[in-house]
Amino acid sequence: MTSGTTSGVAKSAVAVIVLVTSLLLLGSATSSNSSAASSVARRPGVKPTFYKDVLPILQDHCQSCHREGEIAPMPLVTYQDAKPWAASIRMVVESKSMPPWSADPRYGKFSNDPSLTPEQISVIAAWVDAGAAAGSPKDAPLARHWAEGWNIPQPDKVVQMPKAVSLPATGDVEYTYEIVPTGFTEDKWVQMSEVRPSSREHVHYAVVYIRPPNSSWLRKAPIGVPFTPSSFSDAEERAEAHATTSDMLLVYAPGSEPDRWPDGMAKFIPAGSDLVFQMHYTTNGHAASDQTSVGMVFAKQPPQQRVLTLQLTNHTFVIPPRTDDYRVQVWGTLPNDATLLSFFPHMHLRGKRFEYNIVHRDGTVETLLRVNYHFHWQMSYRLAQPRPLKAGTRLQAVAWYDNSENNPHNPDPNKTVTWGGQTYEEMMVGFFDVAVPANVDKEQFFVRHGAAGN
Ligand code: HEC
Repeated sequence: MTSGTTSGVAKSAVAVIVLVTSLLLLGSATSSNSSAASSVARRPGVKPTFYKDVLPILQDHCQSCHREGEIAPMPLVTYQDAKPWAASIRMVVESKSMPPWSADPRYGKFSNDPSLTPEQISVIAAWVDAGAAAGSPKDAPLARHWAEGWNIPQPDKVVQMPKAVSLPATGDVEYTYEIVPTGFTEDKWVQMSEVRPSSREHVHYAVVYIRPPNSSWLRKAPIGVPFTPSSFSDAEERAEAHATTSDMLLVYAPGSEPDRWPDGMAKFIPAGSDLVFQMHYTTNGHAASDQTSVGMVFAKQPPQQRVLTLQLTNHTFVIPPRTDDYRVQVWGTLPNDATLLSFFPHMHLRGKRFEYNIVHRDGTVETLLRVNYHFHWQMSYRLAQPRPLKAGTRLQAVAWYDNSENNPHNPDPNKTVTWGGQTYEEMMVGFFDVAVPANVDKEQFFVRHGAAGN
């Protein structure tokens, strides 16, 4: 990818890199529409019931998080679970705070958009108004089957960090790495994958990289034990830890969904690869230990297309104190044809908005996605229609930050904020996934045109 600032945008210098990585995507659990619900609200005199009208909505839009062992505070699986929450359920669906989804509906259509239709919202409201009746269990849809502990089907392979990472009760934790051999003796194509931290409340963000056997990345680092790059005596090795051309298997953040690629597309793990867990932990007053796993479902047959994760990144911004709507941008030119599949923006506590655009030759800007960013919900956005892009297409990412005191998440509006791994520092990373012919290597998307490139 080439990189540069467009003229007239003085606020930020730019560094674009296209790293090849994976993005977490889509739990199908939240993506289907339950049509059963929509007819009911309009039939006068017919009161919606839990089993017939509400449960199908909860199954499709809520239970991926609201079930035992998942991130939501209470299950919404049975009538007994849901009844006491009826009024709150009505409130959160009417305010559209649940299910969480931060894309501005004016731009793009996304296949993993879990939002309820207006009909579904009115069914829930009518159900609550009419006393939140159970109805007849005969009307219930089939219970949803979930693989124990996973939102993907039962994984073919689970790779866990062999050694737990001890986390202190307070203070900062540096980026922590653990390198784990896959033991794969043949090439693997991964169609679905999911990250499961063992101490979820401590994991702010995690990236699982695929290190092929011919990669020199982190070769001097230990295997199977946690380490932090600052422990390396060699400055070059320290810097190298954060800069790799390795593809990612996937990225995890709280609320994010597993990766799930359409048939014919998959992530590639060459035989003999290692997985490199890059963990960003935060402390919360309780000491803990974490031993994150990644589960993988392999493609049944070799796909025609390989999925690569690229990124538009700007590390050179300086956000002044007490400023709202501070704009940081970056752009890059796609070096090869590719089909755009999905997006995953990453910022920290001051993140406000994030946009992905195509800048056309005539200068017009086409917005593909605008996210009203919410730190607690870092999500992937999968295009309903994958978008073929020609080599030479100019992609732009734009981020806005709120470093004012009006931002309730702002840890300190009096600070000048720059790039950093801690949540009181900032990041500007626009991950995106593309599909390319299966034999195309990530290196072909890693063309950097000079250090400046601006
Ligand atoms: C991506 C995961 C996810 C999905 C999908 C989801 N929720 Fe939630 N929900 C959460 C989490 C986490 C919380 C607690 C934190 C918060 O309130 O933001 C929560 C909180 C709630 C609360 C408030 C609980 C309280 O303590 O007041 C209600 C009610 C609720 N959800 C209902 C729903 C309903 C109804 C749906 C589906 C239409 C849904 N949620 C879908 C994750 C989810």
